Amino acid sequence: MPKVTILPGNQTAIVPVGSLLLDAGEEAGVDMEAGCFNCSCGTCVARIVEGMENLEAPSDQELDVLDQWNKDPEKFRLTCCVHIVKDGDVTMTQH
Ligand code: FES
Repeated sequence: MPKVTILPGNQTAIVPVGSLLLDAGEEAGVDMEAGCFNCSCGTCVARIVEGMENLEAPSDQELDVLDQWNKDPEKFRLTCCVHIVKDGDVTMTQH
């Protein structure tokens, strides 16, 4: 199962494929920042350090929100609306 690591504290969790990034972070013991939980506010943005290839492709809605925040979708994702879809590890840091 994928191992999710949250920097800078290096907290980790082993989670099933299909997990939401936000839930994986909480599972690792990190108080993940979030607002709408609905892929529309951008509060939950995280930089993906490793493992972008293991995440689902961004929706048009996520791309719009990332664009509003001037965040490159190849480096940043919204943790409230992105699932881990492959059995590979993900490392991320909030903001
Ligand atoms: S919590 Fe609002 S976009 Fe994720």
